[in-house]
Amino acid sequence: MKNRQDNMRISFDFNYMMSEAVGDKDGVTRAELDLLIPRATKIHADLSAKRKSGALPFFDLPYQDTSAIKSLASEVASESDNFVLLGIGGSALGPLALHTALRHPFHNLLTKKARGGRPKMFFADNVDPDHFGQMLGMLDLEKTTFDVVTKSGGTAETMAQFMVARGAVAKALGKRALKKRFVCVTDPENGNLRKIVKAEKYRCLDVPPGVGGRFSVFTSVGLLPAAVSGIDIDELLAGAADMDKRTSNDGLWENPAYLAAALQYIADTKKGKHISVMMAYANGLYNVADWYRQLWAESLGKRLDLKGKVVHTGQTPVKALGATDQHSQVQLYMEGPNDKTFTFLRVEGFDTDVDIPKSYPEIEGIAYLGGKGMAELINAEQSATELALTKAGRPSARITFPELNAYTMGQALYMLEVQTAFAGGLYNINPFDQPGVEEGKLLTYAMMDRPGYEKKKRELAKIVKTNARYIV
Ligand code: PA5
Repeated sequence: MKNRQDNMRISFDFNYMMSEAVGDKDGVTRAELDLLIPRATKIHADLSAKRKSGALPFFDLPYQDTSAIKSLASEVASESDNFVLLGIGGSALGPLALHTALRHPFHNLLTKKARGGRPKMFFADNVDPDHFGQMLGMLDLEKTTFDVVTKSGGTAETMAQFMVARGAVAKALGKRALKKRFVCVTDPENGNLRKIVKAEKYRCLDVPPGVGGRFSVFTSVGLLPAAVSGIDIDELLAGAADMDKRTSNDGLWENPAYLAAALQYIADTKKGKHISVMMAYANGLYNVADWYRQLWAESLGKRLDLKGKVVHTGQTPVKALGATDQHSQVQLYMEGPNDKTFTFLRVEGFDTDVDIPKSYPEIEGIAYLGGKGMAELINAEQSATELALTKAGRPSARITFPELNAYTMGQALYMLEVQTAFAGGLYNINPFDQPGVEEGKLLTYAMMDRPGYEKKKRELAKIVKTNARYIV
């Protein structure tokens, strides 16, 4: 008999990635996968050695002690009607993906009782003044907790959000209220936010050193907001631990994360599939596709390989939503350039099904819908899109969630992280750095007159001046 964990295991179906389904030109052959086995063994050994030495702590996050996170979360939940995450990139996308997948789709519109006494949740993730200013303007600051999340402790966007929110709270409630209204998540030792935490005595959780932003969803970055909104973070970590067991072996054909990486890698480097579309057939999973977009792009989009050779690697990840994007993108996917792979996210058992009434039995064109459920319709549309793409020679894989819950989400996010780390090995690049993001950050400092960046500012002025020709 199957136990609960077997019933709740996500599956990775890659039939339609293979040449048998879409032909040798566009599909991956068994021989091509077999050829990667020696490299897979080596990459696995390398990742395992790094994991053992403590150099890749993201692998062991499923086994952490969550008591400090839970205790702060329950304090915050009882003290607040609103919870605002201040952060950007890896410090915001994971928390948002968890919230969208695992909370009520209209969480903030529910009554406090229907929210289980939990606060309304907001995720800033930008410095758009309209968005941020108007959000701040509508919050009752006395009942709002701001969670300042930045691993480096100095990201311009996050620090600007923090400074604005801090100023607003100080003005409305007085400086003495700050300690109660802000909590922080940052590096245990380093960075400007840590200095501020020490000086202003904010309650603070650590981002474990060595865990990069886009691999931080299972740290207090993702777990604190999740626990505040009532997500069972132990179930989430149990799901991640389950996936760890499934991905801790070098058997390329058995390991879902390694297989997924190898398939994308072959598709990209041998079949011209330079775009990786993740298409969620559940609104709750759309932000998982957004989170994956950052993970895949920032980790694998690299100029140099590990030997310093210029390689310019990386597929371009795209997020899509089914069935919505069938009426927006699928025409291109079917008949445009055959340069994409598709990863469908599918939920077998939705929490809610909505019956479609038999309203028009006499109108043949719509009568067939009556008596069915929306769950059946959306999943039929997923299968139809997948099969239509297969017929058109366009490769796709599918991750199926038996249900959308903390346990299955833990599995999926952990699998995608391991997939990305392993793909870094296949491309022979470092998936854990982001040198390409740095230059833009430095130029922002220069434009914003940060001391020490005067030379950069002159450099910038020169580029602007010499290129100010074509404008209408
Ligand atoms: O994945 C990453 O490393 C980045 O996207 C960071 O998360 C992002 O730049 C924010 O950085 P920080 O958490 O240091 O503010």
